[in-house]
Amino acid sequence: MALYSEKVMDHFLHPRNVGVIEDANAVGEVGNAKCGDIMKMYMKIENDTICDVKFETFGCGSAIASSSMATEMIKGKPVADAMKLTNKAVTEALDGLPAHKIHCSVLAEEAIRSALEDYRRRRENSGE
Ligand code: FES
Repeated sequence: MALYSEKVMDHFLHPRNVGVIEDANAVGEVGNAKCGDIMKMYMKIENDTICDVKFETFGCGSAIASSSMATEMIKGKPVADAMKLTNKAVTEALDGLPAHKIHCSVLAEEAIRSALEDYRRRRENSGE
């Protein structure tokens, strides 16, 4: 059996939503201390809905595939739904990851949470 599913290979070779959102109102950055990989997530949120989301990943293929899939799963969704996205759901949507690559999908979940946390902080600071 192939180590990586077709979906993982597809999202790794053709990642969706790569890049930067210049006027993002939510930005999150996380890293994994063990492997040294870093993921940055940008979101444009309006009326508590994620209108746009992009990412940059300085990491392995599984991290790229996970963040690509994760952004597809939260784009157009309410913030509350995105908050609930788990790395398990991302892994399942990718038809699985090898056990030693599960932490890469955790990075995607954490990057989304970190961006949403930033969004919440900004709103609090602006008194909204
Ligand atoms: Fe570090 Fe995949 S090996 S995120």
